[in-house]
Amino acid sequence: MIIVRSRDGSELRVDGYRVRFFERIDLPPIDRRLKAIREAGWNTFQLKADDVFLDMLTDSGVNAMSINQLAAMMSAQDAYAGSRTFYEFAETVEEILSFKYVIPVHQGRAAEHLLAKVFVREGSIVPMNYHFTTTKTHIDLAGGIVVEIPVKEALDIKSRYPFKGDIDVSKLEEILKKERGKVAFVRIEAVANLLGGQPVSMKNIREVRELCDRYGVPLVLDGSMVDWNVYFIKEREPGYRSKKLVDILREFVSYSDIFYMSARKAPSVRGGFIATNNREFYEKIVIHVPVYEGFPTYGGMSIKEIAAMAIGLREMVDENLIGSELELIKYVVEELDKRGIPVVLPPGGLGVHIEASQFLPHVPRNAYPAGSLAAALYLASGVRSMERGAMSMDRDRDGREIYPDLELIRIAFPRRTYLKSHADYLIDRVLWLYEHRDIVEGLRWIYEPPVLRFFLGRLEDIGNWGEKLVEVYKKELGDL
Ligand code: F0G
Repeated sequence: MIIVRSRDGSELRVDGYRVRFFERIDLPPIDRRLKAIREAGWNTFQLKADDVFLDMLTDSGVNAMSINQLAAMMSAQDAYAGSRTFYEFAETVEEILSFKYVIPVHQGRAAEHLLAKVFVREGSIVPMNYHFTTTKTHIDLAGGIVVEIPVKEALDIKSRYPFKGDIDVSKLEEILKKERGKVAFVRIEAVANLLGGQPVSMKNIREVRELCDRYGVPLVLDGSMVDWNVYFIKEREPGYRSKKLVDILREFVSYSDIFYMSARKAPSVRGGFIATNNREFYEKIVIHVPVYEGFPTYGGMSIKEIAAMAIGLREMVDENLIGSELELIKYVVEELDKRGIPVVLPPGGLGVHIEASQFLPHVPRNAYPAGSLAAALYLASGVRSMERGAMSMDRDRDGREIYPDLELIRIAFPRRTYLKSHADYLIDRVLWLYEHRDIVEGLRWIYEPPVLRFFLGRLEDIGNWGEKLVEVYKKELGDL
């Protein structure tokens, strides 16, 4: 954002880019939406993109790309081994993130797979601010145990604590003391996804670093959304307002031993990488790359995407570019909060998060309030959001449900993609749905996969509530 002073003395934030390419989108009529969500088994992951109006499922792989990224893709050097484009990317990693060794992988979960393979053993413990779905699955599959230790404010959606992604350092110290020798690594997720896109403070990562040093445990940083984390440090943490984003980023990542990211997020491409300054870690990880990803100078990625990823790393700390979707998220969250919608506060990164068990208090958790709300929001608006509650957890080894602390839906704002009119439309439809929330009941499984069930699972609407909601919608708002 370009920040200037307004006539009335307040701050005025202006987007530092203009749009030169666009994609036409269509709002499917409500009857079509009902048919589509039925065909999708009431799971928004299973909807066809053509049946969606505003695709707010995720920011992953769908951010707007810059003209410089597109240009770089055209001049990338395709080679199976030793591409110049890879070495240019590695130089950019060293310049922007200060890491000497870098391993491209096909996406974020591939990095998690390799890290789990190298560091996690049966019974290993991995403390972290909060889990992400794919992270937890890879640690579980390697026999490890994820221990979540967010600060207590993180689980209270109404708390406006500015860094709800922080780790509770006293709990971390207890674990490091008690479980000496068993902790594989400590993991910090910059902008904790499942806590509602909440950032981690510089103070916190610095304290975690000190503890890791004291107990001789590596610190792994998941920087998939580190661009937003850095922006929030600049906005919210004392002492950082006048610093450049790139300098804040360098300090932040310098506290980690291993940095990885889904490059589908902050750098706006399709890929990922692991970076470190520790030669021994690099060597342990890189030997697995030819088996699972590809030759280490492309790691399962298209070389064109690697070229765009290098540009994306620079652009993710470009002062002009960062923050416009965060301003839209803030606008929607504040408007919904004013009208009593249970949104996660303070406004964070990634998207607008609604606590579905408060939005639909009459739907029991084993009937999936968040899954139901995501399906209902699609019906009422054509907006595709994502379930981030009980369905996004898999059952335990005895087949029992694991209920996460928060039962959220996430309405994501990909970078530089949606406009203010879209935000206003979304607000209107969420408010309409809230007025008719009693109609929405739960969901039950028709097909439940054993692992990461939220991706491929199929369900049905208990008591046929979808049709009832559509009937009322048509009476009050018409066919569109
Ligand atoms: N870590 C974090 C914090 C993520 O948000 C994601 C993906 C991953 C790791 C895995 O990366 O998808 O490239 O394999 N998050 C996406 C989302 C899927 O919609 O939030 P991936």
